[in-house]
Amino acid sequence: MPRLTSPPPHIRFFFPFFSYIPCVVFLCFLSHAAESQIQDQELQVLSKLRQSWQDPSSLDHWVASNSSSHCAWPEIKCQEGSITELNLVNLNINYSIPPFVCDLKNLTKLDLSYNNIPGEFPAVLYNCSKLVYLDLSQNYFEGPIPSDINRMADLQVLILAANSFSFDVPASVARLRRLRILHLYMSEYNGTYPEEIFGLSDLEELRLEYNKKFVPSQLPQNFTVLKKLRDMEALEHLDLGINPLTGEIPGSIFALRNLSELYVYETYVSKSIPQAVRAANLRVIDLSLNNLMGNIPEVFGQLKNLYSLNLEFNQLSGGIPEGIASLPALSDVRLSNNNLSGTIPPDFGKFSPLRRFEVAFNNLTGAFPEQLCHGGTLFGLATMNNNLSGELPESLGNCSTLLEVMLNNNGFTGKVPGGLWMSRNLTALLLSGNGLTGELPKELSRKLNRIEMSNNKFFGKILSTVSSWRNLVVFDASNNLLSGTVPAELTVLPSLTTLLLGQNKLSGILPTDIVSWKSLNTLNLSHNKISGPIPSEIGFLPGLTQLDLSDNQLSGLIPPEIGQLNLNRLNLSSNRLSGPIPAKLENAAYDTSFPNNPGLCASNSFMRINVCNTQSHRLSKTNLTLIVILAIAAAMCVLLVVLFMIRASRKNRDWFDSTPKLTPFQRLNFTESNILSGLKGPNVIGSGGSGKVYRIVVNSSGDTVAVKRISNNQKLNEKLEKQFAAEVEILGNIKHRHIVKLLCCISCEHSKLLVYEYMENGSLDRWLHKKKRLSPILGVANNMILEWPKRLQIALGAAKGLCYMHNDCSSPIIHRDVKSSNILLDSEFNAKIADFGLARMLAEPGEAVSMTAVAGSFGYLAPEYAHTTRVNEKIDVYSFGVVLLELTTGREPNDRDEDMCLADWAWFHFDQGKPISDVIDEEIRDNSSLDQICNVFKLGIFCTAKLPSTRPTMKEKFQHKLDAAPFLGNSKYEEMPRRYFHVLECNTY
Ligand SMILES: *[C@@H]1O[C@H](CO)[C@@H](O)[C@H](O)[C@H]1NC(C)=O
Ligand SMILES: *[C@@H]1O[C@H](CO)[C@@H](O)[C@H](O)[C@H]1NC(C)=O
Repeated sequence: MPRLTSPPPHIRFFFPFFSYIPCVVFLCFLSHAAESQIQDQELQVLSKLRQSWQDPSSLDHWVASNSSSHCAWPEIKCQEGSITELNLVNLNINYSIPPFVCDLKNLTKLDLSYNNIPGEFPAVLYNCSKLVYLDLSQNYFEGPIPSDINRMADLQVLILAANSFSFDVPASVARLRRLRILHLYMSEYNGTYPEEIFGLSDLEELRLEYNKKFVPSQLPQNFTVLKKLRDMEALEHLDLGINPLTGEIPGSIFALRNLSELYVYETYVSKSIPQAVRAANLRVIDLSLNNLMGNIPEVFGQLKNLYSLNLEFNQLSGGIPEGIASLPALSDVRLSNNNLSGTIPPDFGKFSPLRRFEVAFNNLTGAFPEQLCHGGTLFGLATMNNNLSGELPESLGNCSTLLEVMLNNNGFTGKVPGGLWMSRNLTALLLSGNGLTGELPKELSRKLNRIEMSNNKFFGKILSTVSSWRNLVVFDASNNLLSGTVPAELTVLPSLTTLLLGQNKLSGILPTDIVSWKSLNTLNLSHNKISGPIPSEIGFLPGLTQLDLSDNQLSGLIPPEIGQLNLNRLNLSSNRLSGPIPAKLENAAYDTSFPNNPGLCASNSFMRINVCNTQSHRLSKTNLTLIVILAIAAAMCVLLVVLFMIRASRKNRDWFDSTPKLTPFQRLNFTESNILSGLKGPNVIGSGGSGKVYRIVVNSSGDTVAVKRISNNQKLNEKLEKQFAAEVEILGNIKHRHIVKLLCCISCEHSKLLVYEYMENGSLDRWLHKKKRLSPILGVANNMILEWPKRLQIALGAAKGLCYMHNDCSSPIIHRDVKSSNILLDSEFNAKIADFGLARMLAEPGEAVSMTAVAGSFGYLAPEYAHTTRVNEKIDVYSFGVVLLELTTGREPNDRDEDMCLADWAWFHFDQGKPISDVIDEEIRDNSSLDQICNVFKLGIFCTAKLPSTRPTMKEKFQHKLDAAPFLGNSKYEEMPRRYFHVLECNTY
């Protein structure tokens, strides 16, 4: 094009060569000016962005300075002075994305993951014409993915996971032909996904897992799709787990040449696993928790890169292919809970760096493989419930990496390899139900806290060196041949909770100095030959709930101190005990605890032993005066009793006048008379506005219930009547792991009883708030600390309960009185929501209902109550937020020493940008999980937002946030065990 490069003659005339120089300089200047102008413009966009997000403190460093350009800020990447990337991860952004973000014309990557952005899919981003990479995961987006999303035609990476997107995944997604990475996992899609996704030929990662609400569909079976599937030559990572998929696994998946990780777990796929595999690079195969049948394909034994093979919880049969045992990369083998048979290939471990080997609950036979720990990396070993036999290999004793060894219920014989007891990292050793023999070890590994070795042939004495087993929590050696005495040294183990030594040949007397057995809750020494008295010190073990000393040769009186214990189970039968049983044990709950002790007697006949008969004996020795005095006293007694009976019969008339009507909500193992007889003073464990609460042991196996008695004398007032009806209607109809169980109700004309499962650890408030801790109720001692993991567990449990009420019941339920005293804790600190007296059903989620009056508790009341009585489930979210703040700060919701309620106080602190760690409860502050605690605190802040619409819902998404909390700040959370995510299910309990 010479015409353009050489200027026309007259122009050449006016611009001689030298005159070009200033011009070039000027152009340079112009271009510099242009660049700095672009920089200025882009800087302005950034500052507008920050403003529109209400200046989150995480962006405080976004201030213009002369010394460095915004291109140096950590969130930003530029090319030639123009912004190309915004990485705004986990910055507490709570507002939507403004349209002017696309004024950054060169933006190719936008990452907004782990924020709290609400609203629909941000279609404003269509104007970002160069966008290649978009990550919106872990936010609060909802609604559909727009059907014109294919306008973002350059997208190569689209990550929308862990939001609340619903409806269908539109076919337009499959028209983004350049996609390399597509993550749609963990959302609320309740429609279908386009089969055309299988066919995106550049796709390297496709993650659709954890979308349980998809309309059930088959894995692609039809020919055209399968043919397309074959074009997905780039696919390396395919995850379809936890989806309602049916049909079988198509062979073409295993034909994807580059496939490296395949996850199809917890779906409904059935039939057999394809037997041909072209994907030679497979590293991970996870087909667990399906209905797969048939054999494990032999060709798996040729996958040289296979690292993890998980086929557990299927119905696979046949043997374990030999080839698998010698794969060089194999680390993780999980084949438990199938119908596998034959022997375990002996080469397992010989060529592979095995870390986990789990084949439990199958029908495997033959010997234990010799070389499992050859690579020196094995930490998990589970072969329980098979028919394995022979001796355990000595090599197992030289495997210092082992953490858990579960070999129970097989046919192993011979001795336990000596080194195993001392294995440096071992925490649990389960050997029960074999034919093993040998003596107890002198020493144990420091970390061992659980030994189960019952039903074997171990013999010899419990040595005095047992005192060195310091960290033991559970020791079960029942049904062996142990002899000698129970040594005093066994009683110094400070963490021991469970000691089971029944059915051995122990003899001698019991040690008396047992005060350091502080943690013990279960003691079983039955079926031995122990003699001498029962030490009264047993009565001072604070946590003992189960005591079985039956079938020994114990003699003497039963120490009255035993009566102080809160025993669920007591068995002292078949001994040589004598004298009267302690008054406190004369209770129908213990009527099978004493038989077959010829010298023992009780003052009541229902105890199924002799009735004591000492009175007549004494009488014969007394003189006349005494007889007279006694006679007068007796007369007065009779008078008193008569008076008392008259009163009592008045008081309890309702029970006997009208027959009580019992409405069961599930199978019961007690009758109404068990309940009615327990309604007495000593059983009262609390009382509140609506009446008293009793703890009642209802039968001889120690089953315990809590009974709420509404009203007593007067007619039930209307308000209480309503609360009773609400509680019965709602709790009688819903069952959920995290909602307290109503077993039955008993009603008479003037009184109502609600019978619930008994919750050993009482209510959450007692654990959190010092002032309430002094309460002797439930034995919650003043110094008991609720550690952080338990608090997190409680928060999760309560969230699941609420989530269920709000979303998964046929009519959604608002509780209206969520508070820490209505969150009850069972023996394992599982949270259960209780007290539905104020609860209301809604026609559908989100619907607002009119309340005639403000209900609920101060400190937990959502602010909208101030201006409206129309409320929806967001009021529960508010109250739950207050509970989260209580859990993290340890403060009371409405502390009288403070001017503000907890929610306002926390907002105030947070708003001033002070470090959150300053307000964390001292009891948990010294904690490696401080980040996690701060995240839960922030969640509390978020839930107590003034505007109901800005609060999150209790939906699954919300739980993900909470559950993801352990991993926030650790962007690798996706690499955590995916099983972790099951427990978040909100509706499967
Ligand atoms: C995009 O970046 C290039 C340099 O890479 C620059 O020349 C151009 O002006 C930028 N465009 C805009 C609209 O900022
Ligand atoms: C899917 O979910 C959305 C949002 O929750 C709802 O509006 C829609 O009706 C649901 N669709 C179906 C088919 O259930």
